[in-house]
Parts: sequence; structure tokens; C-alpha cells
Amino acid sequence: MCGIIGFIGRTDAAPILIEGLKRLEYRGYDSSGIATISSAGKIEIRKEIGKIVELEKIIKHNPINGKIGIAHTRWATHGGATVTNAHPHIGQTGKITIVHNGIIENYATLKKHLEKEGREFTTETDSEVIVHLIERYYFDTDNQDDGSPLTRLEKAVSDTVKMLEGTFGIAVLCDEVPDTIIGARKGSPLVIGIGKDSMFIASDINAFVTYTKQVIYLDDNEIVTINRDTYQTKNFERAPVSKDIEEISWDVDEIGRAGYDHFMLKEICEQPDSVRNAFIGRLLYEQATAKLGGLKLSNKDILNIDRILITACGTALHAGMVGKYIIEQLAGIPVEVDFASEFRYRNPIIRPNTLVLAISQSGETADTLAALREAKQKGATVMGICNVVGSTIARECDGGVYVHAGPEIGVASTKAFTSQVTVMILLAIYFGRVRGLSRDIANKLMKEIEKLPGAIHAILDSKEKIKKVAVKYAGTKHAFFMGRNDQYPVALEGALKLKEISYIDANGYPAAEMKHGPIALIDEEHLTVALAPDSPLLEKMIANIQEIRARNGKIVTVTDTKNQMIEKLSDDVIKIPKVHPALKPILMALPMQLFAYYVAVAMECDVDQPRNLAKSVTVE
Ligand code: AGP
Repeated sequence: MCGIIGFIGRTDAAPILIEGLKRLEYRGYDSSGIATISSAGKIEIRKEIGKIVELEKIIKHNPINGKIGIAHTRWATHGGATVTNAHPHIGQTGKITIVHNGIIENYATLKKHLEKEGREFTTETDSEVIVHLIERYYFDTDNQDDGSPLTRLEKAVSDTVKMLEGTFGIAVLCDEVPDTIIGARKGSPLVIGIGKDSMFIASDINAFVTYTKQVIYLDDNEIVTINRDTYQTKNFERAPVSKDIEEISWDVDEIGRAGYDHFMLKEICEQPDSVRNAFIGRLLYEQATAKLGGLKLSNKDILNIDRILITACGTALHAGMVGKYIIEQLAGIPVEVDFASEFRYRNPIIRPNTLVLAISQSGETADTLAALREAKQKGATVMGICNVVGSTIARECDGGVYVHAGPEIGVASTKAFTSQVTVMILLAIYFGRVRGLSRDIANKLMKEIEKLPGAIHAILDSKEKIKKVAVKYAGTKHAFFMGRNDQYPVALEGALKLKEISYIDANGYPAAEMKHGPIALIDEEHLTVALAPDSPLLEKMIANIQEIRARNGKIVTVTDTKNQMIEKLSDDVIKIPKVHPALKPILMALPMQLFAYYVAVAMECDVDQPRNLAKSVTVE
């Protein structure tokens, strides 16, 4: 996600803003920029792609002054990582500039209306609509008699934010109000820092914590006006809202992880939001379908698809395996899933109507990149399901869908998986509706998708219970994860999570496969994690659990049922909420992630940077 910092004080803003951006680097970004109101009273902007040091070089070469400014690190969502798309964005008059963190869902409609009014856009971003709207309202004739420039600016921001759908944290500068920064928040955090003769506004406290620990957290639907030594908080109707000043207790190091002990835990806990960002703006109830415009496929193309090949590595492959079940079920298209490293060397059979899906969080995995090139070479249409906008895989595909999970720093992939599976489900609905899926089934599933963030929250609220179970198994030498149907890929994912961060020998299997060999390893030392949600196969799963019990194996069962037999047969049971059957793989992933995390922490492993592994495997 993007990072924001704003400053107003008695010293030059640029060095403080650059330092703040550096403290936000952990959030992940692909470009950055800064705007100040210079001593000449004009807005000055400097922007650059790449690391903050590149922006510093630009500023060294072309200095920027002024005691008030805003700055931004961009994690591209709409439009690639370019200088033009970098924030701050400036309006046509050159008198108003903004930075934005979040996703404006209705930007396309707003952009169309604004262009009809003659406004010229220069970027591919969703954020640019914000500065054009503020400018339109600020200079709007019937707003002119609304008193001082500050009142007009506040009203313009208030009128603008009421037009926006989606999530935003914004900071606004206007050179006609040169001693004020205005911020507004809905869905993306904004926090005010109260300094000595200075004020800060930022997307997280890490940006200014070296200057002050006195903070005010904005809540959703609130606007703040800050000057050098005062601030005023209001709601979107501009009615005053009183806020408490809080003292930060965290030490500076902790703050990079927003107070979490590890990035992995932070990213596990971000999943209510990251899964929401995977479906927000993509559920069209009117047409009872999902909107995935990036696929650039006509209905005729979709009707002609006779086979889908999904290729990926690691966690992304497991997400693709879940996709197989749901796409075949809802769209009736045969789906094959293959390791990218195997796919590219087995001379895959590709026909003109074969669609290849390449799934990759980083968008830079060498095996997956090579596989998609092989598929293209053979004439396939290739779509990328990526998290990093503008990544190599995303750029080399014929189209695709971004999962919008935000930067994933921990080597063990967590939120990317649940976002990838969410996109698989949206794609299954989209293709299904073109190929005969009923409105009723599609709408019912879409309504259930909207409940996912709440269900994920419920599991996160019970993470201490999962921790209590997990620490019992720290030091286990061998573990199986077993599941059936679309829980089998989740079993593989659970095994991969545990293996890669705790170094325990963990393997996933289809539950029925245990009797064909693996069960020979079961003894009282061996742990088996059984994924047993309510389903037509539950009784069969219970029979598999009994087989493990009969050989004195240890059993942890994860379920959404109150089944006596499961309680009786299992050493520990982890309960999760019930959701639509198609969504159970997403929910089941959370206990897998938390179980692996707490075992690894109990074993004092390096959770975020496990041995021998890299976050993005850009070599074969
Ligand atoms: C998963 O936790 C691992 N970090 C690894 O298997 C990863 O999923 C795999 O390397 C694929 O990475 P990608 O999604 O960036 O292509």
C-alpha cells in the first residue's frame, strides 16, 4: 500500500519529508514524490520511480524549498510505476496538489464526467480524479462567496470526499492557503503528529515518530485541517469532531511492522482488508457477474475457451489448484494446473482456444515467467494474476487481474494466497455467467464473498487459541496435512507454510491417499493436521482421522462443525466460522498460516527471512 507524510513547521520541509518516506519504505513501493509550497508561494513538485535515493538525486539536482509539504511512496494499483503516475498529483491550475493512499472504486465514472467538463487528465491513476474534483469545487463560481480561501478549500475537500467510493487517505495542499494541509480519511489510515512548532500527517506513525509520539488517529469519514501549531478535526459534513491525543508506547523499531512482531503476522492480520481489496469494485449485482476488465476477453472469447492451463510456483500454485475446483464447477471449463518449472519443459499441448493463467505474487518468478513465454510461443492467450503492478509477468501477459493485496514483505506468502483464491472465484463467476451459470447462484455467492472480511476477522480474534494449540507442537519432527477436494490444495499450503518457516518436515496429501503409503510413517511422534470442514466428504474425512488415531498419531483437526467424533478423535480442534462452501478454502488458510507462524515463533525461527529462501525467486 502507499505511504503518505505531510509536514508544516519552521524548518525546510523537504529533508523531513524525505526522511519520513524512508521510514515508510518497509511498506513496499515503486515510485515516490514530494510537493512543497515554496518561499515564492508556488507549488513545487519532484517525483521519481525506484527507490527514495533516486528522488533525493532529483532534489539535489533541482532543489525544492518551503516549510510546508506533502510526500508519497506509491504502490501502483491503477497504472504502472512511472514518474507521471507517481504522486503528488497536481490539478490543471497548478494551485492544488494531493497525495492518496487507497483505491477509488468509482474513478472511471468520475473521470468520464470530469473529462466531459473539459478537464484534462495526465496520469493512468485512479487518484488523479481527487485533485480535479477538489479544484472544480474550489474554483466553482457558487463556492466563491463562501468566505476565506481556507473555508472554500475545506468545503471543496468535503464535497469531493462525499463523491468518492472505495478507500482513501489523502493530504491536500493549495497555494492560496499556504499555511495549511488538509487531510481526509475513509478506509486508509491517517494519523496526525503534534510536534514542537510543527505538525505532521501520515499514513502511519513510523513516518514521524522520531519527532513526536503525541498522535491523533483520524477515523473514517473525518477531515483534518492542520497548521504549524493547531489542528481541527471535522466530519465529512464539516461538523467539528473532538479527538483524543494519544501517546505512542511502541519503540521505533517495532513501528516498521506497525507494532506486530513480524511482517508475516502483520500480513496475516491484514487479510480482512486485502481480501476486500481483491473483490471491492468487482461485484456487479445488476448483471450478477464479476468485473475483471483487465482480462480483455470478449464473451465470444470466453465461450470459445476449451481448456484452461494454470501455471505457477509454491503458494501461487496452490491458489491455482483451488481455482481448478471452482472454475470447473461454475464455468464448466476443464482446468489443468502445473508447476511452472515442469510446464515449460514438458512440451505442453496448447491449442488456439487454450487459456493459460500465470499466477504470481511478485510477478518476477523466473519459472513462471519462462512458462508463460513458452505458452505464448505456442500461441496460447496468457493472463496474469499478479500482486505487483507493472511486474514483468503482468507486463508480458495479454491481460490479467491484479489481486491488490498490497506489498507482501514476509517470505512466507499469506495474504497473497487468499487474494489469489478470491480472484480465482471472481473469475469462475465471470466465466460461468457467460457460459450458463444462473444469476441466482452467482448473486448468492457474491453476497457471501462480501462477508469474507468479517469471517476472517473472527478467526483473527481467536488467534490466541490457535497459538495455544500450535505451541504444543513446536519441535515436532514430522507432520502431515490432509484434506479432500478443494481442501487438498489448502493442505499443501499448510504444509508449505510450516515447512518453510519452522523447517519441520511437513507434507500435504489428499486424505484418501494416506492409505497408499504415507500412513506407514504414522506413530505417536507424528502430527497430522486434518482439514475437515462441513461438506459431503466430512464422514470420509472422519474415517481418515480414525485411521491416524488407530496408529496413535497426533491429530489437530480444523473444522467449522460441532462434530462429536472429531472432538473425540482429535488431540486438538481449531474451530472456524461457516461460510459458503466455495469460500471455505480461503477461510481454512488462516488457521494454517497462524499455526505455522506460532510454531515457528515458539521454535525461535527467523519467521520473516527463513533460511535458504528468497521472497521472489528470480532465478531458475
Ligand atoms: C510461499 O510462501 C513461498 N514464498 C514461495 O513458494 C512462493 O509462493 C513462490 O516462490 C512463488 O512466488 P510468486 O507468487 O511471487 O511467483
